[in-house]
Amino acid sequence: MEIKDKVVVITGAAQGLGKNFAMDLAKRKARLALADINVELLEEVRKACEQAGTETRAYELNVAEEKAVEDFFNQVVQDFGTVDGLINNAGITRDGLIARSKDGEIRKMSLANWQAVIDVNLTGSFLCGREFFVKLLEQKKPGVCINISSLSRSGNMGQSNYTATKAGVAEMTVTWAKEMARHGIRVAAIAPGYINTEMTSAIREDVKQKIIDQIPLKRMGEPNEISHSVFYILENDYFTGRVIECDGGFRI
Ligand code: CAA
Repeated sequence: MEIKDKVVVITGAAQGLGKNFAMDLAKRKARLALADINVELLEEVRKACEQAGTETRAYELNVAEEKAVEDFFNQVVQDFGTVDGLINNAGITRDGLIARSKDGEIRKMSLANWQAVIDVNLTGSFLCGREFFVKLLEQKKPGVCINISSLSRSGNMGQSNYTATKAGVAEMTVTWAKEMARHGIRVAAIAPGYINTEMTSAIREDVKQKIIDQIPLKRMGEPNEISHSVFYILENDYFTGRVIECDGGFRI
């Protein structure tokens, strides 16, 4: 798929990888529908993309709410006339060990922290993917869905909840690719490693250093290195049902 002039939806576009995908796709002249729960930050990203010379609209969206996601995709098609791509990127962390004992005190991951991550990362990806496909089927046209998984899908300390969602997202990608191929729709995923974003800046310094020491390239990745994988998936018409692992060679 040629990127120029295509309508691409990016969820979680107010910061982190989503923001960088937006800025990098704006430079390639994609038309952008940006969604996030944080509308103030999102508006800044929208303006920056527009300054790069491409049509960009911002939408307030909680990806975990079914009706909101349905309304959002209806609105995007009304505003742009069509939709061609989705980057299913919205995601949160609520890190903590499943159970731990320190200084005589036992702590455990709360059900609320488990559920919050499942709702946004897994259910949100399901809902957005589903509504995107519905729009493509209605319009009888091809398209590309990119799910954002993570290196944590293989089991990362402190991320029971996040790992479960990112493994789910990776395998859902294969299912969707098989189901949607007959309609000319491709579905692929990216599993980024530790990338310099707001999400990783929250990791305690001593833990972060332990992590970096294990990365063969001895550094965290940059967001534009993940945008490169986005371009690859969008542009390569023979790529579907697979996960690109872009992680500096780090295997958890
Ligand atoms: N790698 C190696 N060691 C780790 C680790 C990791 N990912 N996470 C925790 N540890 C170690 C700690 O260094 C500590 O070791 P010592 O006992 O030898 O000092 C031990 O495990 C227990 O951890 P804490 O003392 O930190 O326990 P805590 O209860 O205070 O905090 C925690 C737990 C919140 C999970 C904290 O350890 C932490 O933030 N870990 C990092 C989790 C992480 O990697 N998150 C990724 C966020 S970015 C992201 O999710 C994007 C993506 O796709 C990768």
